[in-house]
Amino acid sequence: MAGTFILGIESSCDETAAAVVRSGEQIVSNIVASQIATHQPYGGVVPELASREHLRAIVPVVRRALAEAGKAYKSVDAVAVTQGPGLAGSLLVGISYAKALAFALEKPLIAVNHLEGHIHAVLLEERQKGNHEVRFPVLALVVSGGHTHLYLAEQREESWTYENIGHTRDDAAGEAFDKVAKLLGLGYPGGPVIDRLSKCGDPQAVRFPPSQIKHPDRRTARGPETPLRAAAYPRFDFSYSGIKTAVLRYVETHNLAPSIEARRHALAQIPKPKIEDYLASCDQQTLDLVASFQRTMVQDLVDKTLAAARACDVATLFVTGGVAANNQLREAFEREASQQGLPVFFPSRPLSTDNAAMIAAAAYPKFLSQQFAPMDFSAEAGMILR
Ligand code: KG4
Ligand code: ZN
Repeated sequence: MAGTFILGIESSCDETAAAVVRSGEQIVSNIVASQIATHQPYGGVVPELASREHLRAIVPVVRRALAEAGKAYKSVDAVAVTQGPGLAGSLLVGISYAKALAFALEKPLIAVNHLEGHIHAVLLEERQKGNHEVRFPVLALVVSGGHTHLYLAEQREESWTYENIGHTRDDAAGEAFDKVAKLLGLGYPGGPVIDRLSKCGDPQAVRFPPSQIKHPDRRTARGPETPLRAAAYPRFDFSYSGIKTAVLRYVETHNLAPSIEARRHALAQIPKPKIEDYLASCDQQTLDLVASFQRTMVQDLVDKTLAAARACDVATLFVTGGVAANNQLREAFEREASQQGLPVFFPSRPLSTDNAAMIAAAAYPKFLSQQFAPMDFSAEAGMILR
C-alpha cells in the first residue's frame, strides 16, 4: 500500500492511544486504552494515576497499533505526538516515548495540538468516505471534557490556521456533564450515562435559566496583536458553572440527597453497571432532572454555535470532541443547521472521544510542509491553537 504512514501517539488525559494513518485519509489501525476503571472510584481523572497508567500502557499500545497495521517500527514515515493542551505529566509520557522512537528509528517527529487533532478527526473520516471537498470557511466547535471552543479554520496549501472566536469562561461542557453525574451519584464519566438516561426523562420538566456572561473576557482582551478577522466578530463564549450550581440547588431544595446516596451505594456494588442498572437506581424525578439538564446544555451549545456561524457567514460546520458523541446534540445540530442551509459534520463516535488517529491525521499536512519538532520540545499543558 503506497502513501505516507504516520504513527500517532496521544496521552493528554485518561486515554493512552496509538494509531497508524495513511496520508491523512485512511485509518490503518487505531488503538485506545481507556483508564476509566482506574479513575471511576474517584469520580474524575486523578493526574498522578493517569501518568502512571500511561507509563504502563504506552509500549503495548504502540506495539499493538503497529501490529494491527501490519507495519514494522522502521517502516513508518514519521512519529506524531500530542504536545498539549492536557495534563503535563500525562503528555510527557507520550512525548518522551515518541521522541525515543523517532530518535531510534531516525524518523521525523511532529508535535500536534490536541484540539487541532479533534478538528482533523472530522476531515480524516470525510476523506475516508471519499469526500475531499470541504467548503471554507469552516467553523469548528470542539466540545469535550476539557474544552468548549469555537474556531474559524482555514487551509492555505498545506498550512492550517485557526482563530478562536469563543470559549468557555469556566467549566467545559463535558466537565459539566461529568460534575452533574457525580453529584447525582451516576459515576464517571457522566456524558455517556446522562445521554442514555435522558431518553427516559421529560426534558421540559425542569426549567434552568439560560447561561449569562456579564463581563468582557479579560483573558482575550483585544490588542494590537489580535488578528483582524477575529477582531471583526463579537465573541461567542460559553459558561456552564451556573447550570451545575442550579442542579445542586434543585437537589437541595427537593431533598434528593438520600436517594442519591442510595444510588451511589447500589451502583458501587456492581463492577460494570449497565444502563438497566442505572435506570433501576433512578426515580422519575431524577430522570426528568437529567433530561432537562441535557436539553439545556444542548440548546445552549447549538444556539451559540449557530449564532457564530451566521455572524461569520461560514460555509461548513464541524462538531467534534467527546461531547459530540451525544445523541441529542447531534440530532439538534443536524436539524437546526439544516434549517440554516449549513452542512454539519461530526466524527464517528469512536473518533469523537480522544484517540491517536486524529493526531496522525493532523500531522500529515505538517509532514508535507516539513514542520518537524526539535528533539528538545516539551509538553504545553495550556497550549493555545492558532
Ligand atoms: O474528547 P474527550 O475524550 O476528552 C477530552 O479531550 O476532554 O472528551 C471526554 C468528555 C467527557 O467529559 C465525557 O463525559 C464526554 O466527553 N462525553 C459525552 C458523551 N460521551 C463522552 N458527553 C455527552 N454525551 C456523550 N454521549
Ligand atoms: Zn480531547
